[in-house]
Amino acid sequence: MNRFLLPASALGAAVGGVVLFKDYVTGGLCPSKATIPGKTVIVTGANTGIGKQTALELARRGGKIILACRDMDKCEAAARDIRGETLNHRVSAWHLDLASLRSIQEFAVKVTEKEERVDILINNAAVMRCPHWTTEDGFEMQFGVNYLGHFLLTNLLMDKLKASAPSRVINLSSLAHIAGHIDFDDLNWQKRKYNTKEAYCQSKLAVVLFTKELSRQLQGTGVTANALHPGVARTELGRHTGMHKSAFSSSLLGPFFWLLFKSPQLAAQPSTYLAVAEELEGVSGKYFDGFKEKVPAPEAEDEEVARRLWAESARLVGLDVSHWSPGRGHVQSR
Ligand SMILES: NC(=O)c1ccc[n+]([C@@H]2O[C@H](COP(=O)([O-])OP(=O)(O)OC[C@H]3O[C@@H](n4cnc5c(N)ncnc54)[C@H](OP(=O)(O)O)[C@@H]3O)[C@@H](O)[C@H]2O)c1
Repeated sequence: MNRFLLPASALGAAVGGVVLFKDYVTGGLCPSKATIPGKTVIVTGANTGIGKQTALELARRGGKIILACRDMDKCEAAARDIRGETLNHRVSAWHLDLASLRSIQEFAVKVTEKEERVDILINNAAVMRCPHWTTEDGFEMQFGVNYLGHFLLTNLLMDKLKASAPSRVINLSSLAHIAGHIDFDDLNWQKRKYNTKEAYCQSKLAVVLFTKELSRQLQGTGVTANALHPGVARTELGRHTGMHKSAFSSSLLGPFFWLLFKSPQLAAQPSTYLAVAEELEGVSGKYFDGFKEKVPAPEAEDEEVARRLWAESARLVGLDVSHWSPGRGHVQSR
């Protein structure tokens, strides 16, 4: 009996240590218990990964949830799963393809006409390190979907967000933004040799700059905007990378990924926190790494770059904010 006691307690300590280490590395559950009955939430890219789990967490807290996705079969399936798991029936699937300005415009018009309010907009969708693809409107895919699409969407929903104030915009960026640089001479990778990694980093830096400028413009409106690195998670984000496809990394490195990477459920906790936490009321223009506010990369703090990017983005998507009114020709054709 005593022969097994030492190895058994050593094993117990090791398992406990692993669990504690994993919890330390991956962060914990959302520290806020706030609920959101009566609030309407839009989550982009909510059919899988962090977006789906965020939608689930917020449905559990009583919100009316709109899953905004490009693939309606996957979107309906996710909405069904969430309704089934949370017993919240105010969860619906809407079409939104961020690689199409027309689709974004149609989505915004539908929201404006059908929804009384939008309290929380979570700009979550992204594509990472894809081949040199372009969107329907000719933008480099990662810049177009991760940043420009959300830039337009947020602007088109702005009147609704303001009318629902206090309201929140949460932009999913990434730690990868620190390796990014905004090349105003070639935002869409038409002149340089395409580098898919740098294009992802540029798009995520653009998200932080957008958040800063948006927050500045929204001062006094009751709408806040914050950017977030959710942590590194086991999702489908790496679907275009060799690592995701290789048998070596998925089998041999699997245990390390399990140990060091968050589950989508844990990675959704920071988005949930930024969406619901009462203590964050009025906090705006910040960059969060998990639950903690952090200083982003120096370029992300450059107000001149942020203003210039905003102006250039408005030009690229044909947005004339000064003349915009819901549902009426607010985007000029390019
Ligand atoms: N996972 C990480 O380690 C990590 C780390 C840092 C930051 N992030 C950020 O966290 C966010 C969520 O990522 P994730 O890990 O959950 O990735 P994911 O599992 O790949 O999910 C991405 C979502 O974006 C959607 N999407 C892609 N292109 C779209 C388009 N044109 N229109 C509408 N939706 C589109 C995808 O839809 P389909 O399924 O139809 O493609 C999917 O629902 C992203 O912004 C990502 O950059 C993730």
